[in-house]
Amino acid sequence: MDKLRVMTIFGTRPEAIKMAPLVRELERRPEVESLCCVTAQHRQMLDGVLGIFRLTPQYDLDIMEPRQSLSTITSKCLLGLEKVFQRDRPDLVLVHGDTSTTFAGALAAFYQQIAVGHVEAGLRTWDKYSPFPEEMNRSMVSRLADLHFCPTEANRRNLAAEGITKGVYVTGNTVIDALNTTVRKEFSFTTDELNRLDCSSKKLLLITCHRRENYGEPMEQIMSALRQLAETYRDQVELVYPVHLSPVVQEAAHRHLDGLPNVHLVAPLPADEMHNLMERSYLVLTDSGGLQEEAPALGKPVLVLRRETERPEAVEAGTVRIAGTRREDIVAMAAELLESPAAYETMARAVNPYGDGRACERIADAILYHFGRSDRPPETFAGR
Ligand code: UD1
Ligand code: UDP
Repeated sequence: MDKLRVMTIFGTRPEAIKMAPLVRELERRPEVESLCCVTAQHRQMLDGVLGIFRLTPQYDLDIMEPRQSLSTITSKCLLGLEKVFQRDRPDLVLVHGDTSTTFAGALAAFYQQIAVGHVEAGLRTWDKYSPFPEEMNRSMVSRLADLHFCPTEANRRNLAAEGITKGVYVTGNTVIDALNTTVRKEFSFTTDELNRLDCSSKKLLLITCHRRENYGEPMEQIMSALRQLAETYRDQVELVYPVHLSPVVQEAAHRHLDGLPNVHLVAPLPADEMHNLMERSYLVLTDSGGLQEEAPALGKPVLVLRRETERPEAVEAGTVRIAGTRREDIVAMAAELLESPAAYETMARAVNPYGDGRACERIADAILYHFGRSDRPPETFAGR
């Protein structure tokens, strides 16, 4: 029997981090021919991840432009992927999460009547414009996909509420598989600025912020909250903020935060450096999806710089709180965690609602089962 040809498609940093261990797992399966296509919706931030995980894609669409629009990303991906599929037709296309690459990847495969598998399926806020455009991207991919790999049981229930019950598997999130390969006790950073951080007598606040729905006034509020925290706790905290390469974010971060001695605005970090920095941090403030999954696994409290989250599991477990995007709310919630050991201890517990490090194994098992290459149904991730 011919090998099952599985093409993994991704374009941005988080997709790459979360797909890398799956590509590796597929490469280990003798029944599978694993192909990898990157759209390069992100260029430098994607290449960093490809390097860390030693991935060499067969196809690279190289679509990124400065200040790209959603229409540009989507149309360039569609046209590029059409050519790839005409030249090298896979049996299954795998896309991840909720970016424009994800949506365009699923749509381009559908146009060629190629089966689609959606990794990290079933996350919802039920608010069309938040996160924007991710909520609609992932909803539309759910309509297009044949296989749905849900990180959690709650994600499965979200799909069931939309009438999607076939080809649905609860696997855990592949981000935990990735995290298990990067965090090490004796880790050295590549820059002196990070190696010299005093994490024993100072509290390290790790910051990221990039979401499109936060552009404008919410981002102004977030940046001024960070400034206020840095000034109020000048001798007690170090803020480390790897600034996303988006020019919108770069401009806002540098305008508000340049010149503060305890604020380190650094370039985006390689994934292994980011994960090890998180391991040394006291508190994480972020609007990122991935950090909301990684930090709880490392026992680090998270304040989410958004009005809602599609990842309620860690909020329910008590390690993540929604801080919103108003300056005074962010400052008040961070101040409580800096000043009250009791409040901090309640949140700082390692919980792992998102995975156990075996998501990729379950996804690969499910693919082989679905295509009749194995009689063994995949195990369900039951949480822990
Ligand atoms: C994208 C995703 C978002 C995801 C985020 C992860 C969409 C619509 N958005 O948002 O869901 O959370 O990635 O980071 O799919 N840039 C560079 N170099 C890079 C990467 C970006 O210069 O390596 C700059 C470019 O000017 C680019 C801009 O950042 O135009 C924005 O990138 P884009 O992918 O459009 O949006 P993100 O905010 O990164
Ligand atoms: N990340 C990284 N370097 C950084 C910032 C983030 O490697 O400088 C990692 C982070 O640990 C997580 C992923 O990138 O695995 C999250 O990506 P991002 O915040 O860009 O996107 P989101 O998760 O919000 O889609």
